[in-house]
Amino acid sequence: MVTEEQVDQVIAEIFRSYGKDRKNLVPLLQAIQVKLGYLPKEAMKGIASFLEIPEVEVWGVATFYNQFRFVPLGKYHTTVCMGTACHLARGRLILEAVERELDIKVGQTAEDGIFSLERVACIGCCMLAPVIVIKDRIYPKMTPFKVEEALVSYKQEAKRELKE
Ligand code: FES
Repeated sequence: MVTEEQVDQVIAEIFRSYGKDRKNLVPLLQAIQVKLGYLPKEAMKGIASFLEIPEVEVWGVATFYNQFRFVPLGKYHTTVCMGTACHLARGRLILEAVERELDIKVGQTAEDGIFSLERVACIGCCMLAPVIVIKDRIYPKMTPFKVEEALVSYKQEAKRELKE
């Protein structure tokens, strides 16, 4: 979790590269999300005051696009590809298996902050469909069983780290 001070630093740095123009709203949201992994409330407030527009407008635009997240990513961020190749290779079953195993839905982060889940359109390795990515590691040719196996090993790793 980033502190308020870190958020202020990041957004101040990003604001230096953009003009105070309403058309920069989406690029600003994107730049902040790339840097922090999500859009904290303080960032939304900061953008509103930087662009001199109502905060409600910033929220309105940010919530319109499903590319934006408002909670931090989990330690083991999990991405399920639902691009054409993965979709045709029964990607829906894979997504359902991940949701079941993690007990969260797309766009959510588990309460303990260990896992978060999102779906993407293609991660560029369609030959390996269906594909998921857990913490930057690509898992090819997934089945619901392989999903369970992979996620159980991360759950165990998280438990071990908690004990240390
Ligand atoms: S569609 Fe899934 S990797 Fe391209």
